[in-house]
Amino acid sequence: MKIIVTGGAGFIGSNFVYYMLDKHPDYRIVCIDCLTYAGNMSTLAKAMENPRFVFYKTNICDRAGIFAIFEKEHPDVVVNFAAESHVDRSIETPEVFLQTNILGTQVLMDACRKYGIARFHQVSTDEVYGDLPLDRPDLFFTERTPICTSSPYSASKASADLLVHAYYRTYGLPVSISRCSNNYGPYQFPEKLIPLMIANALGEKPLPVYGKGENVRDWLYVEDHCNAIDLILHGGCEGEVYNIGGHNEMRNIDIVKLICAKLDKSEELITYVTDRKGHDLRYAIDPTKIHRELGWLPETRFADGIEKTIRWYLDHTDWWKTIVSGEYRDYYERMYANR
Ligand code: NAD
Ligand code: DAU
Repeated sequence: MKIIVTGGAGFIGSNFVYYMLDKHPDYRIVCIDCLTYAGNMSTLAKAMENPRFVFYKTNICDRAGIFAIFEKEHPDVVVNFAAESHVDRSIETPEVFLQTNILGTQVLMDACRKYGIARFHQVSTDEVYGDLPLDRPDLFFTERTPICTSSPYSASKASADLLVHAYYRTYGLPVSISRCSNNYGPYQFPEKLIPLMIANALGEKPLPVYGKGENVRDWLYVEDHCNAIDLILHGGCEGEVYNIGGHNEMRNIDIVKLICAKLDKSEELITYVTDRKGHDLRYAIDPTKIHRELGWLPETRFADGIEKTIRWYLDHTDWWKTIVSGEYRDYYERMYANR
C-alpha cells in the first residue's frame, strides 16, 4: 500500500507518518508538504532515513506539481492533513485558510479523480459543528449535528468537508471524513495552548489565558487520533463521517494550572488577556459511531498523555526553541502585545 500524507511535516501529520511506518512495515509513505511556518523538516529527520518514505516540498494548491507527483507515485490512498490550522491566525488573515483548506483539497481530489484512488481521507475537525453551551454537559457533537462555524478556520474546514461530500456524490470519489477534537502530544507547534503554556512556563514568561479561561476543550492524545484514522482507512465506509474524541473535557484554566504544577512554576505567571473573537465555548465529541463500527477507543489517559507530552518538550528544547526564535517571535508579539 502506498499512502500520500499531505501536511506530514506538521504536528498530527508527522505523528501519523511515524505511526504508519511503524505499524505497517510493508507500507510506503509519500509525504507532501510545502513547509509553511508550521512545517518542520527536523520533525521528519528520522523518517527521511527510512527507504519506505519519500518527501516532496510542494504546495497542495499547485495543480501541476500535485498531478506530477500522482503521475510518478500512483498512490493507493491519500490522507489530507495539510491545512492552515490555527484559529487566531485565521482571524488575522483568513485568505490563505480558504486557499489551502478549500482549494488545496479540491486540487488533491481532482488528482485522485484523474489517477484513480482507493480512498481519499479528509482530516477535518470538531470545530465545524460550532460550539456547545457550558451549562449543558449532556450535549455532545454527533455526526448529525448541523454544521455551524465560528471562525474563518472552521468555515474553511467545513467548506472542504462539503466539497469532499460533493465529490463523493457527483463523481463517486471514494472518500471518508474524520472530525477530531483537540489533539496534544509531541511536535505540536508552540502557538497552540498546551505547548505554548509549557514553553512560556519554562521561560518564566506570562501565561496568556483568553477571557476567564472557562472555555472547554475535549483533549485527545495524538497517537489515538492516528490509530482512529488508520482504522477508518481500513474498515471505514465510503462517504461516511466519523467523529473522534475520548470524552476528556477540560477547562483551559485547569490545563494551565496543571502545567504550572507539573513544571513547579508559580500560578502568578497566569495572565488573563482579551478573549478570542467569536471564541467557541465548549467542544465535546460523541464517539459512539467509531467505537461501535470500528472498535476504536482511546488508549492514553490524559494524566499519562500530559506527562509524556511535558517530558517530550523538556527533552526536545532544541526543537521548539529554534521555532520560537524565528518567524514565530514576530507573530507572538503581534498577537499578544496589546491583548
Ligand atoms: P499543523 O499546522 O501543525 O500542520 C499543518 C501542516 O500542513 C504543516 O506541515 C504545513 O507546512 C502544511 N501545509 C500548510 N499549508 C500547506 C499547503 N498549502 N500545501 C502543503 N502543505 C501545507 O496542523 P495540525 O495541528 O497537525 O493539523 C493537521 C490537520 O488536522 C489539519 O487539517 C487540522 O485542521 C486537523 N485537526 C487538527 C486538530 C488539532 O488539535 N491540532 C484537531 C482536529 C483536526
Ligand atoms: O478542536 C479541534 C481544533 O483544536 C483544531 O481543529 C485546530 O486546528 C486546533 O488548533 C485546535 O483549536 P483550538 O482553537 O481549540 O486550539 P488552541 O490551542 O488555539 O486553543 C485551545 C483553547 O485555549 C481555546 O479555548 C483558546 C485558548 N487559548 C489558546 C491560546 C493559544 C488561550 O487561552 N490562550 C492562548 O494563548
